[in-house]
Amino acid sequence: MIPASRLASVPAAPAADAAATPALAASDDRLLREVNAHAAALPQSGIVEVVNYGRTREGMIPLWVGEGDLPTPAFICEAAAEALHGGQTFYTWQRGIPELRAAIARYMAKLYAIPETPERFFVCGSGMQAINIAFSIALAAGDEVIIPTPAWPNAAAAAMTRGAKPVFVPFAYGPDGFSLDFERIAAAITPRTRAIFINTPANPTGFVASLDDLKVLLDLARSRGLWIVADEIYGRFYYGPEGRAPSFHDIMEPDDHILFVQTFSKNWAMTGWRIGWIEAPPALGQIIENLVQFSTSGVAPFMQRGAIAALEQGEPFVAEQIARARHGCDLVADPLIATGKVDLVKPHGAFYLFMSIPGQDDVRKLALRLVDEANVGLAPGTAFGPGGERFLRLCYARGEAQLTEATRRLVSWLTRQP
Ligand SMILES: Cc1ncc(COP(=O)(O)O)c(C=O)c1O
Repeated sequence: MIPASRLASVPAAPAADAAATPALAASDDRLLREVNAHAAALPQSGIVEVVNYGRTREGMIPLWVGEGDLPTPAFICEAAAEALHGGQTFYTWQRGIPELRAAIARYMAKLYAIPETPERFFVCGSGMQAINIAFSIALAAGDEVIIPTPAWPNAAAAAMTRGAKPVFVPFAYGPDGFSLDFERIAAAITPRTRAIFINTPANPTGFVASLDDLKVLLDLARSRGLWIVADEIYGRFYYGPEGRAPSFHDIMEPDDHILFVQTFSKNWAMTGWRIGWIEAPPALGQIIENLVQFSTSGVAPFMQRGAIAALEQGEPFVAEQIARARHGCDLVADPLIATGKVDLVKPHGAFYLFMSIPGQDDVRKLALRLVDEANVGLAPGTAFGPGGERFLRLCYARGEAQLTEATRRLVSWLTRQP
């Protein structure tokens, strides 16, 4: 059980996927014209406008960010603090300290029934950095990466920072929710395509690829000589009967060209720590070591000690988080569906509802209105690329009291609509 005292200290979180940009004076124009075109072309987060509009409202319930409301468990903080006070403050292994790589290998071997091979795992400064490393391996300027959308926008932006082109292929949408459109994915492959980015379970849609889906993708990638960048960070947040979502680990050969993105952020409530890992064939070890060396030069060793504690003692906490998310999903989705005024298919994984309100097609305006009229913060689907335009994203990784109140407000708002 998570003690209530540890819930109380939850900040009104600055959005992980939304950072404010100050207004610029006209005299800065010349400066901006000198900026590298790839950096200058990066899109601003589509969530930031709504967050900035609503973040200071009294009593606002913020369900727009992609993180839970629980602080990192004490046993993880204590392991990090002990290492910090014990002097583990020096430069360290670029690939991660051997003890953490071994702990990741044990964890992954147990979860996915794969051989325990620490040489496949490389510690880095977040899932986001894992995506950047994967794209540095797979993509050069001018190359294309296929991204099924709606999707978490940071992957596309990471491709753009290196002059590569994200090619968006919308999911199909039907009565059972979102599904991969393999014909469109295959048709989107060009001579410049180097990779497919696939996030399963998915933010924001809650889509979970089946083993058959993964097999089709892997066959396609093998036959067309493409990398797969597999973002499986929500693999534990899965609401099917099995204990975790299907994974490429279930069907792949060790030397398949798959780069896995992983993070400590979600399972162990460590979003602010910035620590994750990339899994790749060991032959890429020196390349990954170099990419870490020439970007962050490694992750603080005391944080890596915290991460070891997360892996070795964190199972009860992870189980509780998943149970909480499963319950949170029902708590919000069932009453919303019962209004008959939303189009919402319950997600199979991750911790988001992605829903539309028929007749309300301008979701940017709608998200702003919901701040004013319901005091609930939701993210507009326009932030997640093609296919998201009609939807709103709601993060339900929060406590029962907040979710119940947010649901009450949303249901009341919906029933007031003509
Ligand atoms: C699909 C997906 N991948 C990767 C990440 C990156 O997580 P982090 O950089 O916190 O490790 C996120 C964060 O929201 C995400 O939703």
